[in-house]
Amino acid sequence: MSDFTSSPNTSSSTTDFGYETIPTDQKTERVAAVFRSVAKKYDVMNDLMSLGWHRAWKKFTLELSHVHTGQHVLDVAGGTGDLTKAFSRRVGAEGQVILLDINEAMLNVGRDRLIDDGCIENVQLVQADAEALPFDDDQFDCITIAFGLRNVTCKENALNAFYRVLKPGGQLLILEFSQPILKPLRVLYDRYSFSVLPKLGEWIARDAASYQYLVESIRRHPNQDALKVLIQDAGFEQCAYHNLSGGIVALHRAWKF
Ligand SMILES: C[S@@+](CC[C@H](N)C(=O)[O-])C[C@H]1O[C@@H](n2cnc3c(N)ncnc32)[C@H](O)[C@@H]1O
Repeated sequence: MSDFTSSPNTSSSTTDFGYETIPTDQKTERVAAVFRSVAKKYDVMNDLMSLGWHRAWKKFTLELSHVHTGQHVLDVAGGTGDLTKAFSRRVGAEGQVILLDINEAMLNVGRDRLIDDGCIENVQLVQADAEALPFDDDQFDCITIAFGLRNVTCKENALNAFYRVLKPGGQLLILEFSQPILKPLRVLYDRYSFSVLPKLGEWIARDAASYQYLVESIRRHPNQDALKVLIQDAGFEQCAYHNLSGGIVALHRAWKF
């Protein structure tokens, strides 16, 4: 695993951490502490909290990508490696997948899972910040970031970095929590999120605060159309999104030409 530290260029002196406003230069460490704390229970919590739906959302991402043999894929904020594993099987021995995450604890869980599943031959693990990718320009056919972008301190920096390292003709796929389209679903989802998820976090991971952050960070994240504008502002073209599970999650896809 490469050893990489970065100092991203952030333009504002404060930012959100869930519903808290904190100095911008503290967010990366606060987010790191969340994922250090939850790493070992991350996969079981993912299944419980989403009632298994995260698997379907990731499968849809994989299918829409049409990634094929020989391609180079970068899975940013890839954590414990769900998408990396699926792409590793798709690209085969001639291709390559990079599992990139800022957090060593999450990458360690990911590495162990990939070894257990026999998917490590064409996978490289890189510890780095999404805002300062340690790669040359025009390297990847596809970049994915699943449930990662809302944790990044400056989304604009990350989107610019994705644009730089994608090959011309390459695609960016962003899978992220978003805004339910129908008001009744929004109300139900809010009740479930604020009352059930921190309790589940307490019972299973012994950490209610991290799951409170998760719930709040989803509400702070730009909605479908606002994220589309950010993606286009970074230079991407043909940006479109699919609402999944009524907009609880959205998959944005855009291209670099
Ligand atoms: C909710 S997990 C998602 C993991 C995986 N993509 C999935 O869908 O299961 C978010 C991940 O983003 C990572 N992360 C947070 N900020 C990051 C940053 N600035 N650069 C790279 N990874 C980051 C965390 O360490 C964590 O592993």
